[in-house]
Amino acid sequence: MADNDNVQSGKNFGIGTAQKVEGYFLKGSAHLDWGVKDRLSRIFNPRSGKTVMLAFDHGYIMGPTSGLERLDLTIVPLIEYADCIMCTRGALRSVVPPTLNKPVSLRYSAGSTVLTDLNDECIMDIEEAVRLNASLLAVMVAVGDREHEGLTIRNLTKTIDLGTKYGIPTMGVTAVGKELVRDARYLAMASRVCAENGAHVVKTYYCEKDFEQVTNSVPVPIVIAGGKKLPEKEALEMAYRAINEGAAGVDMGRNIFQAENPVAMIKAVREIVHNNAKPDAAFKLYEEWKK
Ligand code: 5RP
Repeated sequence: MADNDNVQSGKNFGIGTAQKVEGYFLKGSAHLDWGVKDRLSRIFNPRSGKTVMLAFDHGYIMGPTSGLERLDLTIVPLIEYADCIMCTRGALRSVVPPTLNKPVSLRYSAGSTVLTDLNDECIMDIEEAVRLNASLLAVMVAVGDREHEGLTIRNLTKTIDLGTKYGIPTMGVTAVGKELVRDARYLAMASRVCAENGAHVVKTYYCEKDFEQVTNSVPVPIVIAGGKKLPEKEALEMAYRAINEGAAGVDMGRNIFQAENPVAMIKAVREIVHNNAKPDAAFKLYEEWKK
């Protein structure tokens, strides 16, 4: 027990120095609770305000797609270069070494696969996310999907309610249905629906035209998915444009793990996201690191 015979009166009260009122570096996040901010600060670098998330959750709908046949061989060596990893609980428990200590964006909704009908999903128990020390809960939201729109928005809403109990933020992942066009009008609508329903982060696609309308109409950070594999230089150009048009980072999968040299590629993406390198400079570095 503390010895209370010798309690000394405090002397150093800093009288005359007002306590600083701290702001918070992420868009739309100033009023969030401490635990949520702490987790977001592990994902987004407080210095650059940006993140490079490495997405390798594709197997939950696609099985062993190209580049993900052996997560232990292709993905684990990339993890040290990512600010955050986005994956399923199965991948986490089976191959991701906990000693790497990276914040996890946990794939929190799951259901149907590419073989049937996408987006027919449910969500996991929140205790499972707590056990896995998730820093972010990633939920698919299929705006415009006639059959599953309501279900996926309810999944998002429920996830935010559950996550909020434990201080875990939620990321709405906009799924684009087969018949929907990935233009700024649609992406802004889908992303805004996620944010209005309480998503703390939104993951969506980049579009060449008017992407700034997407980032400006969404009051929380947006990260972009990379989409289908592009030649490395084009993928770096896309990342550059997205960041310069208001994205707070990338949540990239295929354009990293299917690159000719995935380690060189994730490092080059980092140069763009955190150091605002121009695409030509980042590609030059990629070529050097690839050797
Ligand atoms: C799947 C996802 C993927 O994580 C996402 O599409 C990112 O990967 P990629 O850069 O390969 O598009 O959300 O539902």
